[in-house]
Amino acid sequence: MTLFAKGRPTVCTIDLAALCWNFRQVRERIGPGVKVLSVVKANAYGHGAVSVARALADAGSESFGVATLEEGIELRAGGVDAPILVLAGAYPEQLDEFIEHRLTPAICETETLRRLELEARRRGVTLSFHLKVDTGMGRIGLRAADVDSWLPELGPLKALRLEGIFSHFSHAESAEGNYTQGQLQAFRRVLKRLRSAGYDPPLVHVANSAAVIALPSAHFTMVRPGLMLYGAYPSPDMASQVTLKPVLTWKTRVLQLKKVPKGSSISYGRTFVTRRESLIATLPVGYADGYHRLLSNRGEVLIRGRRAPIVGRVCMDLTMADVTGASGVAQGDEVVLLGAQGQASISADEMARWAETISYEIFTSIGPRVPRRHYRSEGEEKKRG
Ligand SMILES: Cc1ncc(COP(=O)(O)O)c(C=O)c1O
Repeated sequence: MTLFAKGRPTVCTIDLAALCWNFRQVRERIGPGVKVLSVVKANAYGHGAVSVARALADAGSESFGVATLEEGIELRAGGVDAPILVLAGAYPEQLDEFIEHRLTPAICETETLRRLELEARRRGVTLSFHLKVDTGMGRIGLRAADVDSWLPELGPLKALRLEGIFSHFSHAESAEGNYTQGQLQAFRRVLKRLRSAGYDPPLVHVANSAAVIALPSAHFTMVRPGLMLYGAYPSPDMASQVTLKPVLTWKTRVLQLKKVPKGSSISYGRTFVTRRESLIATLPVGYADGYHRLLSNRGEVLIRGRRAPIVGRVCMDLTMADVTGASGVAQGDEVVLLGAQGQASISADEMARWAETISYEIFTSIGPRVPRRHYRSEGEEKKRG
């Protein structure tokens, strides 16, 4: 499929030095004994899972979090040796793969717990797992309020080992908010019940990026940041608390330049008609690459260090920008879709506002046909921890 992709200039460059800078911001905010599980699910939020995880492992990340078994296997195949937690659920049929690839399942309900225990005993193997507790996210996990009903399930376990317990915040961007505090209290109550019943799992974790930055009381023995590693802020006000460096730049080059008279319509559906003689740049990127169609007549790109508006509808593979105002534009010029060019920049948050979504979706939407090129910017040597 990518045989002839070589000449297409639409690429993402990923700065591993910026990634490691952001990792160090995590490290500086947590206590010396606290471990980091770097969340690299969904292809490391679109940044290329294997290269990102290897760079983070070198920087001192003790473990990694993925969403699926397949993502865990990809990391192992790429040479990542650290513990890997599969966060978004495990299925009893996957036991052999969990064992073979030394992956740790997050178990979120009792039926899977029982079935995995049974299968593991039958094979004579042991498997460590983390228990997921729902303290108010309303997604996966054993309900914290029901702890007395599920706690006895841990008693008969022989093949399965409780290595960790964790929960997830629903609204940690407002880390001081009542709801987050309520989730934290519910989590502490579960921990207390567990300990009084004789269980003391070493890995206790609940903090996503927002809580790493703004809620030290939620750090426990491990934190689980994702977004901040990639240089985006969980909320705009957190920029005053930590300085993060954007990691990904998405760029392309002008495929065709066309001077068109006033009154020319651009792209499908005639949603944009030139009001003057205009210079239109056609860019080799479209919604099939993850460049959202909602950017039609809304988004901007950077060319020659200046902003140029997207005009007409974003197509599957092509997008048009009005470069009438940018002087000296030539075919083949670099165009930045996301990231910096000279003094100008477009952040994932800004693009997310245009596309009525969040930075997470901007990153993870960038499709597989956009090559990821990893490099280290100058002036940032490879540092541990
Ligand atoms: C279970 C879990 N933990 C941690 C994270 C990381 O969150 P963030 O990217 O906000 O740091 C996620 C992200 O969605 C998650 O689902």
